[in-house]
Amino acid sequence: MLVLGIESSCDETAAAIVRDGRELVSSVISSQTKTHERFGGVVPELASREHLEKIVPVVEEAFARAEVGKQEIDGVAVTSGPGLIGSLLVGLSFAKGMAYALGRPLVGVNHIEGHIYSVVFENPPVEYPALALIVSGGHTNLFLVEEPGVYRTLARTRDDAAGEAFDKVSKMLGLGYPGGPLIERLATEGDARAVRFKVPRMSDRSLDFSFSGLKTAVMKHLRETELVTFDEEGEPTQAAKNLAASFQSVVVRSLVTTAEHFAVEYEPRTLIVAGGVACNKSLREAAGAAAARLNINAYFPSAHLSTDNAAMIAAAGTVKLQAGAHANLDLNADASLRLLDVNAEQDKIGRGKVHYRL
Ligand code: KG4
Ligand code: ZN
Repeated sequence: MLVLGIESSCDETAAAIVRDGRELVSSVISSQTKTHERFGGVVPELASREHLEKIVPVVEEAFARAEVGKQEIDGVAVTSGPGLIGSLLVGLSFAKGMAYALGRPLVGVNHIEGHIYSVVFENPPVEYPALALIVSGGHTNLFLVEEPGVYRTLARTRDDAAGEAFDKVSKMLGLGYPGGPLIERLATEGDARAVRFKVPRMSDRSLDFSFSGLKTAVMKHLRETELVTFDEEGEPTQAAKNLAASFQSVVVRSLVTTAEHFAVEYEPRTLIVAGGVACNKSLREAAGAAAARLNINAYFPSAHLSTDNAAMIAAAGTVKLQAGAHANLDLNADASLRLLDVNAEQDKIGRGKVHYRL
């Protein structure tokens, strides 16, 4: 089965062609980083306009690189949420038009579910149950994937996403956007024990993540120590390197200790770590070490599949199409779409056992 995937939920316009849900035939990503970096974050209006300009050439390029004709496609999978509404609508409208014109089924994919599928291309098949830690600029979620399509939300962030925390601390240090790779580079020469930040914990003893207090602690440290990021030669100072390393280490510890806690409770057979922050080597090492202690496999996507891409959307969509799921042309974009079923028993913030509705 050949599936065309389309992704436009944030600041990447992407299209990919995937065979049988696991073989990456082509993947094209047009990133808008250059457009947004001078603003220090994504500007929604600019994002939608750029998606509009890029969607046709990106999809054409995906077909050209795959050397596949449009009629050979068996279905179209598109991100229907969560994300920026104007951005989502560009990909969704295009996908609807394409599916209708070709007379092929269309399926909507939850972007976060897409990230979970980003590991299928470069790893052995996932063994279930799996624990999936999805860490990006917009999301920080820990799921138990009982079997394909059956998710239980174990923990989520109460405020900032992990990637967002990296981006904000980078901005405070005057490093630039996106912050994750810049903080990581600085951290490699820093001492992670130099600044003692507390691992964030919720006051109600839940194991949810929280990163906004940490951001405030970094701000306070910067003010109190009058930290300068660059010396007169424009080189990063040791104090900045130490701060970056200490911050990174506490974020990684928070993510990995929580994942490990739930792994002990649910005994998964695989640990999946995906999303933009999964590019971080220190996180990979710590998650890999935790998986080794638990005697399970840890799967990570490589960098081009960690950040937003359409291959993961095509892979997740293939499972749905194979199960007979078809969306109608009235499928709508949902900016705050949750990985939930209508029948889910949930608490206020959406925790609970959830069966994704195909
Ligand atoms: O998955 P993604 O491309 O977009 C969203 O769906 O949000 O993730 C982007 C996020 C940004 O916040 C970026 O700073 C972070 O991933 N990121 C990293 C690294 N590379 C990207 N965070 C930490 N370390 C990295 N090496
Ligand atoms: Zn994403």
